[in-house]
Amino acid sequence: LEKPNLRHFLKTQDFTRAELQEILDLMKMLKDARRDNAVPQLFKGKTVGMIFEQPSTRTRVSFEAAATILGGHAQFLSPNDIHLGSKESLEDTGKVLSRMVDVIMARVDVHSTVAGLAKGASVPVINGLCDWLHPTQMMADIFTMIEHLPEGKKIDDLKVAFVGDATNVSNELAMICTKFGIEYAHVGPKKYHMNAEVVGMIEDNCKEYGGSFVMTEDINAVKGFDILVADSFYWFGQEAEKEERLATFMPEYVVDQRLMDIAGPQAMFMHCLPANDQRETTREVMDGDRSVIMDEAENRLTAQMALLVYFTHKDMPKPSAEVV
Ligand code: CP
Repeated sequence: LEKPNLRHFLKTQDFTRAELQEILDLMKMLKDARRDNAVPQLFKGKTVGMIFEQPSTRTRVSFEAAATILGGHAQFLSPNDIHLGSKESLEDTGKVLSRMVDVIMARVDVHSTVAGLAKGASVPVINGLCDWLHPTQMMADIFTMIEHLPEGKKIDDLKVAFVGDATNVSNELAMICTKFGIEYAHVGPKKYHMNAEVVGMIEDNCKEYGGSFVMTEDINAVKGFDILVADSFYWFGQEAEKEERLATFMPEYVVDQRLMDIAGPQAMFMHCLPANDQRETTREVMDGDRSVIMDEAENRLTAQMALLVYFTHKDMPKPSAEVV
């Protein structure tokens, strides 16, 4: 059952810009086809097994809908119902599921869980969010940026600023933006800047693809930026730090109308959702005419359709390095 050149989608960083562009092209084709109610049944007879260690609205519904639209099936697997890391190794779970399903998608507490599944799996494993990264979200985000490009601008003309904590979303956003040649800024308290491993990857991308990045505490750095991105100030496992985090980030790093005004009238607002409105952002900004958050949410479905097709049809080129 071993497939030659098996690839997993654990992080966008494992893929070249050209490969990510292929997925984006597939997204465009499938989104257009869905609008015409003419999506080719490219997942017919196939199943995606979906493991969720954490709750999810967008990721769960979009993968399930994508499988159905493409003629296939999605199976929801709660860790309460399967042996995930107990009674058998993650590797064995990956091996067993690979005998039954065509793609494994896992939302996990820690990256080592999805990497452990991938180590055993002989079908593609997709990271549906871990403590470190959120690659499927980023396919939706970069696609949404392209859909909303200001007239006359190309993707690598954009300036994108993330405001807040170095989250799984912001790590992955920094990686994909610099891979697409974007000018990128991470704006937040120094204690919550990206770590050296992520910065190393971003620096590699800037060298190879021409992007640039800064990390700064100065909110005025967003002036003239095309897109401001926000994310939650605390997540699962960080509840004990909640009060300290809120006191550190608020009110300075809240993406509210004040910050949108500093950026300028051209600035769009993005957020992967769910949003804790009145904390990292405000209802006014979320519902404002510069917000593209609902297009971004819809494009989760666009991305999942493309990922299911890409990873079950593509004659995969060998990865340049071992995927971990
Ligand atoms: N953005 C995102 O991953 O949403 P869910 O947690 O609802 O899946």
